Amino acid sequence: MSIKVYVPLDSGSVALGADDVASAIAAKASKAGSDVKIVRNGSFGMYWLEPMVEVETPRGRVAYGPVSTDDIDALFEADFLTGGPHKLYLGRTQEIPFLKSQSRLTFQRCGIVDPVSLDDYRANDGLTGLESALKMTDAEIVKAVTDSGLRGRGGAGFPTGIKWNTVREAPADQKYIVCNADEGDSGTFADRMIMEGEPFVLIEGMIIAGLATGATKGYVYTRSEYPTAIDVMNEAIKVARAAGVLGDNVLGSGKAFDMEVRMGAGAYVCGEETSLLNSMEGKRGVVRAKPPLPALEGFLGRPTVVNNVISLCSVPVILEKGAEYYRDYGMGRSRGTIPIQIAGNVKHGGLYEVGFGLTLGEIVEQIGGGTATGRPVKAVQVGGPLGAYFPKELFDTPFDYEEFAKRDGLIGHAGVVVFDDTVDMMKQARFAMEFCAIESCGKCTPCRIGSIRGTEVVDKLERGEQPELQTELLRDLCETMKFGSLCALGGFTPYPVLSALTHFPDDFKPRALDIAAE
Ligand SMILES: Cc1cc2nc3c(=O)[nH]c(=O)nc-3n(C[C@H](O)[C@H](O)[C@H](O)COP(=O)(O)O)c2cc1C
Ligand code: SF4
Repeated sequence: MSIKVYVPLDSGSVALGADDVASAIAAKASKAGSDVKIVRNGSFGMYWLEPMVEVETPRGRVAYGPVSTDDIDALFEADFLTGGPHKLYLGRTQEIPFLKSQSRLTFQRCGIVDPVSLDDYRANDGLTGLESALKMTDAEIVKAVTDSGLRGRGGAGFPTGIKWNTVREAPADQKYIVCNADEGDSGTFADRMIMEGEPFVLIEGMIIAGLATGATKGYVYTRSEYPTAIDVMNEAIKVARAAGVLGDNVLGSGKAFDMEVRMGAGAYVCGEETSLLNSMEGKRGVVRAKPPLPALEGFLGRPTVVNNVISLCSVPVILEKGAEYYRDYGMGRSRGTIPIQIAGNVKHGGLYEVGFGLTLGEIVEQIGGGTATGRPVKAVQVGGPLGAYFPKELFDTPFDYEEFAKRDGLIGHAGVVVFDDTVDMMKQARFAMEFCAIESCGKCTPCRIGSIRGTEVVDKLERGEQPELQTELLRDLCETMKFGSLCALGGFTPYPVLSALTHFPDDFKPRALDIAAE
């Protein structure tokens, strides 16, 4: 029987050389006459160990990493095909502390299964959530999701069950499920990772959303920068359709649901749900005023659920194991698990799924292992480009929607980007304004013009022109953007700017004065 060797196919691992490693193993095995079957799996999300190669042995899957093509000869010499010792040996995959200490509910099969094998998915309890849902009424499914406490993982943290109920109760001849896979936040990759590593869980979650709301058609909207995710999703949809999981008769239930992938060009604002709907309709990605809510008048004017990938991927386990099981994880009003994406200047960058409630300090110092440079941490930006910068003094903040809001921050899509003490926070504040200016859809003045004025004010601060006046102006401008913008792009840009100004005032000292003082 062939020996199974797993080499990830996900974009992160491929960027680190996984394709070359897979080819080198295949070539060497064929030369050595070893019967090897290479499975291209998803990543487990331990990116400092990628490309991580696993071998199936009688004692379970064992891992080696990070592997480069230069290591292949030595790995064969060390008899890695039977799990032999080597300097890159990491032990049994599931025993690697970063993985073992997680509570993987949403990502439970990511890395384990062959992403496009429905048999593999089923063998690992896949589709059991859908099977349960098919025995329930639409109202019962909505109740389970509501009771689980699941809140949208795209950024706003809106209760998923309430959104679904609005669509369920809306009368219409056609309703839609739109999965927001635009994933524009800096430092985030959870959506991509799960689409590349476990696409069937998204398909399952979308079908359940369809059953709950009466929608029979779904779309996954993602960006052109995600070609592998698009390929894997398309292949999985094809497989699911051929197996009768998607189509006119979902698992023989007589209920219909089908879906397809739509690709956007990749504009940050097209992740905003109404802008996304415009983009899907072939229009310019401009934000729509609300009301009407997309739940009542969404895609093509029909009731539409717009949910983030992770929100939808969290649904199958809720239906499989029950609302209470999911709800038991977490703290306060933040229930269940959250896939935290640790990035930036950090030793152990990767995806860590855990119940809400770890402190920011635990995430950065213990799980992330501190900075990759070994220098002290200065700031951590949580929640993407619109998230606040947290200093070390706020490292006791628990990962929870309300606790972050209390400290003028947000969790967003759970991206955590670490900076060491060489970062210049005035430059980061300017960058936030510049990002907003570049990405603004242009519909409202506080964002379109305010962000340009914002960069100019920071430039004046840097040049030391009337610093006190400029600081006051910057705060005033942020106030206007916060309360006067139509959507969160303009409305939340003040968060990184004001947090930088508040927590790192020394970085806003005029540079000209610094030079004069030297
Ligand atoms: C500028 C901007 C960008 C956004 N980008 C994303 C995104 O990339 N992915 C996402 O799921 N939500 C994004 N959102 C939030 C969506 O508008 C929406 O709240 C979300 O898709 C709803 O799904 P959820 O309830 O499952 O979180 C963005 C919002 C704004 C204002
Ligand atoms: S805040 Fe910016 S992105 Fe949002 S609607 Fe206004 S101009 Fe467009």
